[in-house]
Amino acid sequence: MKALVLAGGKGTRLRPLTHTSAKQLVPVANKPVLYYGLEAIREAGITDVGIVVGDTAQEVREAVGDGSAFGLDVTYIPQEAPLGLAHCVLIAREFLGDEPFVMYLGDNFLVGGIADLVNAFRGGGHDAQIMLTRVAEPQFYGVAELGRNGEIVGLEEKPAHPRSDLAIVGVYIFSPVIHEAVRAITPSARGELEITDAVKWLIDHGYRVHSHPVDGYWKDTGRLQDMLECNRIVLERVEPDIRGGVDGLSEIIGRVVVERGAVVENSILRGPIVVGADTKIISSYVGPFTSIGSRCVVANAEIDYSIVLDGSSVHGVSRISHSLIGRNVEVSRAAGVPNTHELMVGDHSRIQVGA
Ligand code: TTP
Repeated sequence: MKALVLAGGKGTRLRPLTHTSAKQLVPVANKPVLYYGLEAIREAGITDVGIVVGDTAQEVREAVGDGSAFGLDVTYIPQEAPLGLAHCVLIAREFLGDEPFVMYLGDNFLVGGIADLVNAFRGGGHDAQIMLTRVAEPQFYGVAELGRNGEIVGLEEKPAHPRSDLAIVGVYIFSPVIHEAVRAITPSARGELEITDAVKWLIDHGYRVHSHPVDGYWKDTGRLQDMLECNRIVLERVEPDIRGGVDGLSEIIGRVVVERGAVVENSILRGPIVVGADTKIISSYVGPFTSIGSRCVVANAEIDYSIVLDGSSVHGVSRISHSLIGRNVEVSRAAGVPNTHELMVGDHSRIQVGA
């Protein structure tokens, strides 16, 4: 069995980050979300992996290389434009050959791996397998409707009026019949070849599509709140590990990771949190569910429930919460006139100020 990992796409929901970088490389507990997927694929015994890449191809190639660091053999498959998940299958035809394969959305996060799902497919004699889980806001997902005996009776992509709360998880398993389906369907109203339409085609043509419940935690990290939530889940499981320097005036509470070369002075670190390599935390409070990247500075500031990417600084501001801060960003207190907000932010940024 092979794996097809989708790491192209538009990433409109995570702008402006996705103007300059791949959303699959946004870190969760300081590790790119894509790496968790690649590790899960390897753990399921799959080593032959195709990665579909778009505008951010170079960044993904730099992060994953030939795959050997993950025990994988990676082939890159360039997609000329984000024309849909089923389009990814279409362009990967040659790589996939006539083997069954796992299709893994590179921005999806699944706790518990995929080995059980792969085994269920191998033993099941099905033509395709989708994974379903209950979600609070099904209108943002592909949604499945099941019949009395658990058979799939309807599939819809991001329906305005969902018929169930069963979302399709971003890990699919297909036998080669999917190639016929992706050739047969036409683009949807939003101009994409939808994988839900291809799966529907299989069902309509009498193929056996199995739905498998996912009990463990699953998140599509395509939106800010999901990214932060995913970060929380991973941080809750980190093993405390202090490698950097923490002075005697600082207080460390709970699950805290301070990576090599980091310096913590006169600060309170209330876990679970991760502080990246060579980062400085000075006279500050870093609260639960926060991941701070490498080479950052947090000084005279308070921050919690946030992700800060490499090379950014937060000076004299309190309290930052529910935030995703990109690379090499500066956040600081406006000098001079009190209570002003001085901003220079990129296109499609979102800023919520406290007062
Ligand atoms: P989505 O999150 O559904 O789409 P998107 O990346 O265009 O994001 P947004 O809705 O915010 O604009 O994509 C799921 C995964 O599949 C993600 O890792 C990107 C990838 N993808 C491709 O590689 N090619 C494509 O044509 C599409 C649509 C997505």
